[in-house]
Amino acid sequence: MKKIKVGIIGAGGISHSHIEAFKQLPDIEIAAISDPNEAKLSFVAEKFGILKRFVNWEDVLKEPIDIVSICSPNAFHAQQAISALKAGKHVICEKPVALNVEEAENIIETAEKTGNKFMVAFCHRFTPYSQFIKKLVENGHLGEIYYAKASCLRRRGIPGLGTWFTTKKLAGGGPLIDIGVHILDLTVYFMGCPEPELIVGVTYNKFKNQAIDGGWPPIWSRVGDKPSGIFDVEDLAAGFIRFKNNATLFLEASWAGNSETGLKIALMGTKSGVQYCPSSQPPLKIFGELNGVVTDTTAEFPSVNVYHAEIEHFVNCVRNNTQPITTPKEIISVTKIIQNIYKSAETGKPVEF
Ligand SMILES: NC(=O)c1ccc[n+]([C@@H]2O[C@H](COP(=O)([O-])OP(=O)(O)OC[C@H]3O[C@@H](n4cnc5c(N)ncnc54)[C@H](O)[C@@H]3O)[C@@H](O)[C@H]2O)c1
Repeated sequence: MKKIKVGIIGAGGISHSHIEAFKQLPDIEIAAISDPNEAKLSFVAEKFGILKRFVNWEDVLKEPIDIVSICSPNAFHAQQAISALKAGKHVICEKPVALNVEEAENIIETAEKTGNKFMVAFCHRFTPYSQFIKKLVENGHLGEIYYAKASCLRRRGIPGLGTWFTTKKLAGGGPLIDIGVHILDLTVYFMGCPEPELIVGVTYNKFKNQAIDGGWPPIWSRVGDKPSGIFDVEDLAAGFIRFKNNATLFLEASWAGNSETGLKIALMGTKSGVQYCPSSQPPLKIFGELNGVVTDTTAEFPSVNVYHAEIEHFVNCVRNNTQPITTPKEIISVTKIIQNIYKSAETGKPVEF
């Protein structure tokens, strides 16, 4: 098998999961890494024995590598992905793909023009639950999905408080673009990516004064970080989306708030419904009907390392020249919904397409 060489851009918390996932695959070499924070760059390069280390991410692209893994703050994703694709590299980019639709479209266009692979690292797609639900939908088991709810709520879990995570110009927003994007992507994937028609959004920032750091990125990974102390993004966001096929989705995401916590997705279809909540027992419930009697079915799967599964999938796409699981249409649609929830929240008006 041909050896594949990988370059990592951004040596923060999530880069460890990417590097470990690449390293467990055969015939892969992590050949280069970059981070503007020299202390962190050395820490991660030493930990994983990566020889080429650069302060400027552009230098990674000059190396003879095949895949670039983008693990930098959100605001840099578009520029780095476009440059990497133009430099002839295949790109796996952390979520969110970019700050807005224009940036996302430019990435997709560049991937199409260059013919290089591009995937967004939506790791939740790789749980056996997600794959099982997707198959149920595709096999028509749910009938027509006409209503969905997706929530990802934390009570006191603000990541990197006072770092790029809570700085609008670097992150693009708060929990909606950070963790809401995962459940939105998953729900859009399950629903077959219908076209949005109307979006209503709200955002709040109520915990600014009593906010506490949520523990991500892991403290041990924050070597040499110098937080600015800025917190100008929301701590809770909600959106209501009506699609052109008349299906609707209610979405909510918080880093802080006084409520139950966890990730939950519910899909209501004309034949059956599903509820997926990884922290509940059982994590998956299917609400159906048999011989005129309503029935509940449950399913449980062994846990998998989603980062390993996601990286393996992308490497296979590169090796076999196949389309990554995140399609251009889904990537743009998820970005469009997030951008317009923020727009609606800002203007106080619904956004109609
Ligand atoms: N899929 C997931 O489960 C998951 C989990 C956490 C984070 N993420 C995403 O991964 C990305 C990184 O998040 P993180 O948690 O590792 O954050 P982090 O703060 O731990 O790491 C970000 C790193 O990028 C570096 N950096 C800053 N500017 C840069 C630039 N211009 N070029 C290259 N590197 C630069 C910083 O010095 C830092 O070391 C974000 O987009 C985030 O949304 C995804």
